[in-house]
Amino acid sequence: MAELNGKVPVITIDGPTASGKGTVASRVAEALGFHYLDSGALYRVVGLVCLRNNVPLDDMAAVTAHAMAIKPRFAGGRVTLGTEDITAAIRTEEVGQAASRAAVISSVRDALAELEKNARRAPGLVADGRDMGSVIFPDAPLKVFLTASAEARAHRRYKQLIEKGLDVKLSDLVSEMKERDLRDMRRAHAPLAPAEGARILDSSFLTIEETVEKVLYWWLECTKR
Ligand code: DC
Repeated sequence: MAELNGKVPVITIDGPTASGKGTVASRVAEALGFHYLDSGALYRVVGLVCLRNNVPLDDMAAVTAHAMAIKPRFAGGRVTLGTEDITAAIRTEEVGQAASRAAVISSVRDALAELEKNARRAPGLVADGRDMGSVIFPDAPLKVFLTASAEARAHRRYKQLIEKGLDVKLSDLVSEMKERDLRDMRRAHAPLAPAEGARILDSSFLTIEETVEKVLYWWLECTKR
């Protein structure tokens, strides 16, 4: 199945930080043989580049100039910028906060929208982020809003970071996560919210496998319609 209603099909999976959308989206993409777009990684690249160049994140013109200039490459689960592998560098909480601050600037969102839309290629795309269903791919046949309680999300992130050998405090993670969620939800442009027609999936008590199964089941339903 290459197309749905004449267009390359897209499944959007939006949701708050650490809701598991990255893992779920990439597994759904793998199961269907679709491409995968991690739009948060684009915002993180902007955040990283601004931090490294000492660009204040409230300097809209400078942050936008960096967003327009970045040319990250995504292949085999790795992210490269120029010749540098930045896969790990973009995953820190500091870069996540910087990404969230850059994401309030509408001209930054416009610059990244072009890169995001270009990812729509046959046979299909699974895109995860905050506004994939609401703004970037409003015609997606399946839109999912993946969420989980703040406690469940903080515990998942805590486990990931501890496994990587990082020394973090659960209480710090909960407050950083709440701060980022609030900023993402309250911003004027493309705030984090379920898209019109999105199906809400609460994964607080589901395993990754169960969550992936649910999305694949919904996709099967869509293709039968
Ligand atoms: O999904 P993530 O944690 O990697 O995203 C990092 C930040 O980027 C997030 O706090 C908000 C922003 N973001 C966004 O505004 N829109 C998207 N489509 C994806 C991410």
